[in-house]
Amino acid sequence: MNLQELSEHVAREFEKAFGRPPRWIVAAPGRVNVIGEHIDYNDGFVLPMAIEYYAVMAADRPPGGGAMLHIRSTAQKEAASIDTSKPVTTSPLKWSNYPRGVVAGFAARGLNPGGLDVLLHSTVPLGGGLSSSAALEVSTATLVEAVAGTKIDPVEKALLCQKAEHEFAGVPCGIMDQFVSVMGRQSHLLLLDCRSRKTELVPMSDPSVELLITNTNVRHELGISQYARRRAQCEAAASILGLPSLRDASADALEKHKSQMDGEVFRRARHVIGEIERTVQAAESIRASNWPETGALMYASHRSLRDDYEVSCAEMDALVEIAESIGLDGGVYGCRMTGGGFGGCTVALVKSDSVSAITKKLAAGYKAKTGLEATIFGSRPAGGARVIKG
Ligand code: GLA
Repeated sequence: MNLQELSEHVAREFEKAFGRPPRWIVAAPGRVNVIGEHIDYNDGFVLPMAIEYYAVMAADRPPGGGAMLHIRSTAQKEAASIDTSKPVTTSPLKWSNYPRGVVAGFAARGLNPGGLDVLLHSTVPLGGGLSSSAALEVSTATLVEAVAGTKIDPVEKALLCQKAEHEFAGVPCGIMDQFVSVMGRQSHLLLLDCRSRKTELVPMSDPSVELLITNTNVRHELGISQYARRRAQCEAAASILGLPSLRDASADALEKHKSQMDGEVFRRARHVIGEIERTVQAAESIRASNWPETGALMYASHRSLRDDYEVSCAEMDALVEIAESIGLDGGVYGCRMTGGGFGGCTVALVKSDSVSAITKKLAAGYKAKTGLEATIFGSRPAGGARVIKG
């Protein structure tokens, strides 16, 4: 289903739920990170792209007026209700905290969407490491903009959404997911400098290659606590090196300070320093359509995340091993875990004409190794959030 068809579907669902057509329809994509993992909060470079999976919101004013913003989700039993006439706070209804945080962020800027009936439908797999939460935040922000008839600066918009995640969902995420959901561009990856917040588009439209995403369909509980721990370890390493962040750290400087560092902290920093280098190199390789080199960098990224950063898991490792065993002869250039880790998805760079054979091998190999079913799908680099109607 392309975005147009998806929007029509959501418009019909809105009409079924509320008995009238929506006045606004907006969409914001999920993302896959090609390389540069656990780098955004270290001020380095990341290279994600928006995917053709979206959080779509259809909305209209409530017929009776009023300040209540109701969001019904096709994936959740309970609807979210936000009273826009009062300061917005967190709710025990967890999923509602993403839109709540965004509405609060706009309120702080003096923008209030007022009462709305909203229907949310997302095709971004939940908890799959593809930024379903950023898509929901950015979709909400895009709806508020559409309703208010104004647009805020894209960087401000991404930061407002990140703040919602920090303060309302309690997840100390970096800036990558929200930036690419706002600023993604069709047929391009987004090279984001997380320190200056400048973005550069890296074209990726060679029809001979594709990115294949495989969902392990597992999500280990460790995720959030380990994420915060990794952040703290990186800050500790930077402070021992006398730097504001690991962005400017070099492998030599790290080696010199090795004796002052806990072994784990040393390995975390080694990942970050290597991964920033790999990301910059990968952007160059992609510009040059050098797919074998890009693939090799992806494998190296995975090894570093598995051994030094320790955020992979058996299921992700299994998928990367299977991809590696299919190899270049079978059409796989490279593969790595993507996202925060501890479950979710892997991303593989593959030859387009081998996609169906690779898909079969990945699915069968994963089942044989883990007893689990994988979900495998491709995506071209998609455009960022947009207003479809209104
Ligand atoms: C999660 C966070 C991002 C980023 C990745 C790891 O997706 O939301 O900010 O840190 O993990 O690269």
